[in-house]
Amino acid sequence: LGKQFQYLAEVDSTNTFLKNIPEEELHHGMIALTDDQTKGRGQHSKKWEANAYENLTFSIAFKPNSPDRLTLLTLSCAFAIAKVLGDITNEKALLKWPNDIYVNDKKIGGILTECTFMGPKPERVLIGIGLNINQSDFGDEIKNSATSLYQITGIQYSREEVLSKILFQIEQTYELWESRSPELHKKISQNLIGFGVWVRLQINKELMESRYKFLGVNEKGELLVLNEKLELKSYSHEQIRIII
Ligand code: BTN
Repeated sequence: LGKQFQYLAEVDSTNTFLKNIPEEELHHGMIALTDDQTKGRGQHSKKWEANAYENLTFSIAFKPNSPDRLTLLTLSCAFAIAKVLGDITNEKALLKWPNDIYVNDKKIGGILTECTFMGPKPERVLIGIGLNINQSDFGDEIKNSATSLYQITGIQYSREEVLSKILFQIEQTYELWESRSPELHKKISQNLIGFGVWVRLQINKELMESRYKFLGVNEKGELLVLNEKLELKSYSHEQIRIII
């Protein structure tokens, strides 16, 4: 990862930047990193805002052998990041399905995965990562639900060091994903918020009456649950939200 590395003092979005690089110039593992992202995008067409120069804002372009199981790839990257953040803070960093990283019940980072196509064939997968590192406070709207490494430990971090640990860990986890390691989705599952708990599901925007036992994700990254009749069901993330 990162043999091709583009630093951008300012950019609209690192995902968009990598999306626009011509195919022949973009190799597997290329990274775009910025200190000031002006039009950061999050899941569900939301904005992603991060103070300039305080956080980590970057995207990785992957060219997988077969670009399916993308929810599992997103979770694999989140899992790798959570491991690094857990080691740094000595707190448990958990994943919130399908794409967030939480510490102490607050969001510390999020991932936006996008895929570009050449005709019908998926061509590159962009994993965009926003992580709160040295930001000391957040705007009123998110201050109760967001956190940063600095807020957790009171220490200012070298973002380069955190980034290099994360890239190392993502590289390892990517190999497990690419080789379809049967252990990966199990490890991820155990680090998901709500694992093993009876939760409510909102399916296609409708809140289900009954409860489901949350069993994590299957090998595609789809949500796995048991319904009240103890039947095993799986759902993809387009359709569903988990309410704990
Ligand atoms: C989310 O929490 O909804 C996902 C946030 C993803 C933000 C990152 S920052 C780098 C990359 N570029 C973007 O425009 N978005 C992602």
